[in-house]
Amino acid sequence: MADITLISGSTLGSAEYVAEHLAEKLEEAGFSTDTQHGPELEDLQADGVWLIVTSTHGAGDVPDNLEPFYSAIKEQRPDLSQVRYGAVGIGSREYDTFCGAIEKIDTLLTECGAKRIGDLLKINVHDHEIPEDPAEIWLGSWKNLL
Ligand SMILES: Cc1cc2nc3c(=O)[nH]c(=O)nc-3n(C[C@H](O)[C@H](O)[C@H](O)COP(=O)(O)O)c2cc1C
Repeated sequence: MADITLISGSTLGSAEYVAEHLAEKLEEAGFSTDTQHGPELEDLQADGVWLIVTSTHGAGDVPDNLEPFYSAIKEQRPDLSQVRYGAVGIGSREYDTFCGAIEKIDTLLTECGAKRIGDLLKINVHDHEIPEDPAEIWLGSWKNLL
């Protein structure tokens, strides 16, 4: 099993690129990674470290490719007490539901017993033309908490 499983939710690609960039930086720091774009819950092992990177669509909604993962956790309420996770959201402050998807996922994972490592990062795309930049800075401290 990889040290860190990156899980991305994206419609237009930005969150996928951020996840891939973070995986590259983690590998450079000596961690092994497994990056899964829009995985199903059954594709994942319910232990170890997950790093979720997701944008928000609709009105605070989880992107379509991550919706099956989110819905499966919501319905099945698996025991995630052996999971530790980091959370990165990408969105636009023009919406009242800024980064709503990562907030929903963060709440749900916590309800299922998973423990968040570090702060939840919310990247406003209007402040950061290159969202990889703030994500990389955040990762610098996050990886020291592992
Ligand atoms: C139709 C539509 C709805 C959106 N709704 C939200 C929203 O509710 N909250 C938010 O923070 N951002 C919202 N966004 C902004 C996207 O999250 C943002 O553009 C992000 O960079 C898209 O990332 P992606 O390329 O990974 O899909 C929305 C964008 C679109 C096009």
